[in-house]
Amino acid sequence: MSKNITIAIDGYSSCGKSTMAKALAKELGYVFIDTGAMYRGISLFCIENGLVDNNEINVEELIIRLPEIQLSFVTNEETLKPELILNNVNVESKIRSIKVSSLVSKVAVIKQVRQKLVHAQRLLGQKGGVVMDGRDIGSVVFPNAELKLFITSDPKIRAQRRFEELKGTENEASLEEITQNLKERDFIDTTRKESPLIQCEDAVVIDNSNLSEQQQLELALDIINEIKAIKVFE
Ligand code: DC
Repeated sequence: MSKNITIAIDGYSSCGKSTMAKALAKELGYVFIDTGAMYRGISLFCIENGLVDNNEINVEELIIRLPEIQLSFVTNEETLKPELILNNVNVESKIRSIKVSSLVSKVAVIKQVRQKLVHAQRLLGQKGGVVMDGRDIGSVVFPNAELKLFITSDPKIRAQRRFEELKGTENEASLEEITQNLKERDFIDTTRKESPLIQCEDAVVIDNSNLSEQQQLELALDIINEIKAIKVFE
């Protein structure tokens, strides 16, 4: 019987990583972990606990209070999607707001935050059978993952997709706001000192600019089958 492998998915903001990770996990019967949600959870904690002033974080205070922050996931029984729990409260909708989006990359540069979350992510994925998406999954969290995917997409298409996704929700934002936010996050995520977003040498690159969700899922499944045919997972 083939082993439950670890699939690491990295890439830029809003390029469909989570959509692909979710669909792959469903198809394979694996656990899906959205690590961006965890960084968003810590950002929300900062907002709700007076640790943000003028969109700048009180880093010293946050580091002191990190042990207070408990994060976990619960599966929504209707949508079957995992939702983030922050200190016993379901914050799935709140963490998708533009306010959190504009703060999260600043939270993600903090070394102590990354250490806490990488540790939690390794525990969540230690048994394999996991599809984890983020920015440093293939490079830092699971450098030995059996499959690494790096997802890219045209920035204009990414902004438009995000705009459609948020339209009509409590987190609705203008296309301009979203475009600007994606640009800023890409810049911070790729240039930060602590585990920047990089394309691992052993990652398979998927540009999904012109692919539907179904097409990108099929492509990823083909890649997994090819890998399984080449490598023997014990
Ligand atoms: O995937 P997302 O857009 O929800 O992620 C939110 C932010 O969190 C993103 O701008 C960068 C950061 N992040 C990170 O630094 N490392 C990860 N593994 C996941 C997300």
